[in-house]
Amino acid sequence: MRESGEMNKENQNIRFDVDEFEKLKRTLVKYSCALEVVVTHLNNLNTYYNAFEPVNPIEHIKKRIKSPESIAGKLKKKKASQLRLNLQIKICRILQELESFVPMQKNIYEIVEIIRNQPDFTLVREKDYLNHPKESGYRSYHLIVEINLGRLFGDQICQVEIQLRTSAMDFWATLEHKVKYKYDGQMPEYLSHELQISAEQIHELDERMYHIHELVDEINEDLI
Ligand code: GTP
Ligand code: MG
Repeated sequence: MRESGEMNKENQNIRFDVDEFEKLKRTLVKYSCALEVVVTHLNNLNTYYNAFEPVNPIEHIKKRIKSPESIAGKLKKKKASQLRLNLQIKICRILQELESFVPMQKNIYEIVEIIRNQPDFTLVREKDYLNHPKESGYRSYHLIVEINLGRLFGDQICQVEIQLRTSAMDFWATLEHKVKYKYDGQMPEYLSHELQISAEQIHELDERMYHIHELVDEINEDLI
C-alpha cells in the first residue's frame, strides 16, 4: 500500500518548464475567477428563490479547485507530448468543481431545471448519476456549464462543473474520495464493497427523509 504522503511527494517532484508554469498559473487564476462567478450566480438564485418562491433550493455551496499537485499528478499520467499540446484543454476538463447541497433529492431536479433556464450559463453537458449511479455507488447530478470571463481574460470561455447532491450523498462522496486517495485508486475489494453497500443505505435514507418531508408538508397543508 502506498501512503498518501508518498504520493504527494511524487506529485511535487513533477517539474514544469517556465512557459508551462506560467500557463498553469494563468489557468488557475482564471478558473478561480470563473468559480467565483458561478458561486455568486447560484447564491443570487438562492436569495431570489428564498424571497419570492416557496422553495429554498440550495442549502450549502462548497467550491473546489483541484490543487496544483493533484493537477500535476493527473497530467503526469498523460504522455509528455500530449501534456504540452493540450495543457489548457486538459485542465479545463479536470480542474473545476463546485458542489451544492440541496435539502432533498427531488430538489436536485428542480435546481437542474432552474440552471438549464439561466441565460448566464451555457449548459454543455449533464450527467445523471442520481438515476444512474456509478459502479462505486456515487450519486450526484453533474452539470458542466460554460461562462465567459470577459475582457480581462481575453473573452475566454471557461467550463465549470456543478455537482448537485444531498448532504447524505456528500457525506458518502467525501469519505469515498478519502479512501480512494489513500489507496491511490487500488482500493481493496472489501472496502469498495462496504462503500457500495453504504451508498445504497444512504440512498434509502434520502428516500425516507423525503417521505417524512412530504408527510410534514401534508400536515402543514391540513392546518391551513
Ligand atoms: P474525472 O473522473 O475527473 O477524470 O472525469 P470524468 O470524465 O470521469 O467525469 P466524472 O463525471 O466521472 O467525474 C467528475 C467528478 O465527479 C470527479 O472529479 C469527482 O469529483 C466526482 N466523482 C465521479 N465519480 C466519483 C466517485 O466514484 N466517487 C467520488 N467520491 N466522486 C466521484
Ligand atoms: Mg471519473
